[in-house]
Amino acid sequence: MSATDPTTSALLKALLTAQGGYVSDGELARQTGGAREDVRCRLEPLQSEGFRFERVANRGYRLTQKPTSLNAWATAAFLLGQEEIPELIFLSSIDSTNDHAARLLAQNYDAPFFVVTNEQTKGRGRMGRKWHSPPSRNLYLSFASRPRVKQDRIRHFTLWMGARIARDLGQWLGVNIGLKWPNDLYYEGRKLGGMLTETRGDADTVRQLIFGIGLNVNQRRKDWPAELGDSATSLREIIGQSLDLNRANARLIESVWSAYGHFAAGSIRRPFEDLWPGLDALRGRSIRAEMGGEVYSGIASGLDDGGSLIVKTGSGKLIALHAGNVRLTTTV
Ligand code: BTN
Repeated sequence: MSATDPTTSALLKALLTAQGGYVSDGELARQTGGAREDVRCRLEPLQSEGFRFERVANRGYRLTQKPTSLNAWATAAFLLGQEEIPELIFLSSIDSTNDHAARLLAQNYDAPFFVVTNEQTKGRGRMGRKWHSPPSRNLYLSFASRPRVKQDRIRHFTLWMGARIARDLGQWLGVNIGLKWPNDLYYEGRKLGGMLTETRGDADTVRQLIFGIGLNVNQRRKDWPAELGDSATSLREIIGQSLDLNRANARLIESVWSAYGHFAAGSIRRPFEDLWPGLDALRGRSIRAEMGGEVYSGIASGLDDGGSLIVKTGSGKLIALHAGNVRLTTTV
């Protein structure tokens, strides 16, 4: 997908914001800082990206068609006015955005950057699982950086990112999105998204960080493979209508970038502790957890200082799980 330029993005933003209404030639020319004739030239390349415009004398231009799949121009337009976002690498299809980001980091590509794709052919989840990644319905992206932070600071990283993303998306859509420890975005007992953080470094320091997130946006229940049908959800199912994929992409990118900025700037422990209780989808629920080949059943009882999940077993014993797989054993 092609690189974007801010002037064309500003034109597109004005037309997208008008939601099919007309924007006057004068107003659009103001966005380009140039002549009215410039507007037509600027809009032309967007035709090959799936945008269609109509011009009516004395009224101006309006958008009659926009791409429904992920599009660099539309995302850039929705991001306009946000604080500076690192490079966005848009791909129409890739094996896995995490794998592509790792390859770029290995080639000394300038970081930070985002890799965003319309579909993944080998999307990966935790524990070697597959991440279902069909085209044009959901979001799949990875953020890559070279942070040089102490290993112990990374412990809360994925939970922190998830907490901020759950909060930001929830505020945007006016719903309560939660987190299921350790890395799932959750809504009413169903998985809305998953996160996969991968790092490289030495014993002390993390030198490469890749944060991948898959967010189900417009997937419908009937579109899921049978094994996921009962356990997954999407933003569309939550709010009852489909979303503009590029608008959602911009919100997600903004949220990831802002959360990472706070992480990079210093301690996230306090802000994380403030956010977490309101988002914890497991607290007080009966769960079954597996860690290191052992199975534990009990009540999820929050996190300890290191970000481990505390499980209160039937005998009243408290067990801290630092990694593993958790299933709810009762429904709300
Ligand atoms: C999980 O819930 O197990 C984590 C899922 C992470 C999926 C995302 S999609 C973008 C990035 N690329 C991948 O291959 N995986 C992550």
